Amino acid sequence: MSGPNPDIKHPMPMHPRVGFLKPLLEGRPNIEVGEYTYYDDPDGPEHFAERCVLYHYDFVGDRLVIGRFCALAQGVVFVMNGANHAMSGFSTFPFNIFGHGWEQGFDVKTWEAENRGDTTVGHDVWIGMEAMVMPGVTVGHGAIVAARSVVTHDVPAYAIVGGNPARTMRMRFDEHTVERLLAVSWWDWPLDRISRNLDAIRGADIARLEAAA
Ligand SMILES: CC(C)(COP(=O)(O)OP(=O)(O)OC[C@H]1O[C@@H](n2cnc3c(N)ncnc32)[C@H](O)[C@@H]1OP(=O)(O)O)[C@@H](O)C(=O)NCCC(=O)NCCS
Repeated sequence: MSGPNPDIKHPMPMHPRVGFLKPLLEGRPNIEVGEYTYYDDPDGPEHFAERCVLYHYDFVGDRLVIGRFCALAQGVVFVMNGANHAMSGFSTFPFNIFGHGWEQGFDVKTWEAENRGDTTVGHDVWIGMEAMVMPGVTVGHGAIVAARSVVTHDVPAYAIVGGNPARTMRMRFDEHTVERLLAVSWWDWPLDRISRNLDAIRGADIARLEAAA
């Protein structure tokens, strides 16, 4: 029992709408996705980078990093730093992009100073449909982002967040269990150990999961 091949773009032949993002995103150095993380979209998961990762410009240099075993539902959007206009001056109008002299005097460093950095999604995260993750956010391992949330702040590991702006609705497990889950980090296990212990991984008995580690 070895599970699906993580290098296959469409691991469910009857459901081409489901795609493993790691092989689908090959050749995109500023998006890094771990194995088995999938995107589900009736219009095709191969359009993930164009439709779901917005304002992501090479010259900005920000990265989208997503861990292993994440489930990304239809219409999720990662808004990257290129979306933000400089706000510290009187006008937010991006004169420079229109050229014809308006680019003169534009200080890219002022704009860059307001950037929020990389967007990071941990391992085993479930992001509900049409959720929007704003620039620079870190979503912790094991978190759930409710459908249509707008995530503006970091999400703690194993939290369920929802709404606009997304707030923690509840924690999935008590603090001690979360610590133990993070120590176990089953997503880093060798694949054969994961495959042999699926019942412990999808169960809720932390001692049993630890025993499998
Ligand atoms: C978040 C979710 C997992 C439910 O979690 P839950 O802990 O069982 O939540 P409940 O249904 O018990 O609701 C708890 C509270 O959260 C609120 N809530 C649920 N979903 C919400 C959402 N998407 N946005 C904002 N609030 C939400 C409920 O209204 C409820 O509020 P209340 O306590 O004031 O009554 C589910 O609502 C969701 O969004 N699932 C994603 C589904 C999806 O997109 N699937 C795509 C295919 S994978």
